Amino acid sequence: MKIAVLKERRSYEKRVAATPDTVKRYKALGYDVVVESGCGLGASFSDESYVAAGASVGVSLDQVLQGADIVLKVQRPMLANEGVDEVGLIPQGALLIGMLNPYAAHDDLVVYAANNISAMSMELVPRITRAQSMDVLSSQSNLVGYKAVLDATDQFGRAMPMMMTAAGTVPPARVFVMGAGVAGLQAIATARRLGAIVSATDVRLAAKEQVQSLGASFVMVENEETKQAETAGGYAKEMSDDYKRQQAALIMETLKKQDIVICTALIPGRAAPRLVTREMLDGMRPGSVIVDLAVEQGGNCEVSEPGKVVEYKGIRIVGYRNMPSRIAVDSSALYARNVFNFVELISSKTGGTLDVNWDDEIVKAVTLTHEKRITHSQFQSV
Ligand code: NAI
Repeated sequence: MKIAVLKERRSYEKRVAATPDTVKRYKALGYDVVVESGCGLGASFSDESYVAAGASVGVSLDQVLQGADIVLKVQRPMLANEGVDEVGLIPQGALLIGMLNPYAAHDDLVVYAANNISAMSMELVPRITRAQSMDVLSSQSNLVGYKAVLDATDQFGRAMPMMMTAAGTVPPARVFVMGAGVAGLQAIATARRLGAIVSATDVRLAAKEQVQSLGASFVMVENEETKQAETAGGYAKEMSDDYKRQQAALIMETLKKQDIVICTALIPGRAAPRLVTREMLDGMRPGSVIVDLAVEQGGNCEVSEPGKVVEYKGIRIVGYRNMPSRIAVDSSALYARNVFNFVELISSKTGGTLDVNWDDEIVKAVTLTHEKRITHSQFQSV
């Protein structure tokens, strides 16, 4: 069977869905792999490195997709109205595996179903132990949390660690991390390694121990509501208006003492919670830096703008798009391994063929469309 690896055509995307390392692994499973010429360049993988790993290189999209049984992507493929009709060239009956963003891209699902594409969205991998090696949200968020702190230091006119020199003492920076999930915890660890004094907040009580175990202090409005703030899947729920008011007052006071704020708070399938208002920024010191990782989901900070570094009364608010792509070599390597682990799950043990158990909990959770229907219960009614 043939696996096709496409070049990412969307702006701000440097990642690739397969690396020479995973190509070798697909070959060992018995698959043929065709990569689109140049697909790995953004992540520093040359066509030659794919060839050395056993892939063949296709120069046109048409050639790469012809006869493909599995199509690997990072972002959702383009539709005809986006300039290049990638979806239209995917063979009927093929599997499409990528981060297909089904919450925002409902219309794509209709096209996948109409074209008889079995679309599988890696963001929907359930957070169960068996699926950990396929968890793209974790693998990408972890790198993003690290990179966000480095991006903040880049905009910050001061040092992170305390330094005692003959010319005087440089005080340590104070870093506040909002949302202590995967990205937030890595941001805490990175800021601590750089010598900052770190604190963090979340609405899930479970985060408290994790934050403290990394040597940061935990700041939170703790009440009856926070005991139920976590869904069965480990995600945060939207909080009540009363809770939001109390949280805002606490954040307002906390922000006055911070130099760097890393915003990571998200609620799956919804707009990001608005946690930092203009009024709060007014109370912060000039020279402070905010990195808003939630900027593409509406932003945790009121003034952040996607793709921009906004200056507000001497405070810089960083809203880079597609953060995983800013560390594309490692994020591609981890994403490609996540995808490989999933493909291995749905493959026969030998012979390079698919053997999908459609009743498997992981397969069910990621499958959006199959046999010309939208099969995922969460997206059927849209
Ligand atoms: P996420 O990216 O959806 O959200 C980031 C963080 O923001 C979360 O910690 C969330 O609680 C927090 N948040 C949401 N609304 C907030 C608000 N109003 N104020 C402050 N903080 C707010 O979450 P992520 O990073 O994907 O992790 C979610 C959970 O899943 C965590 O409990 C994590 O430990 C767990 N997890 C479990 C895995 C497994 O069992 N295999 C793998 C990875 C994560």
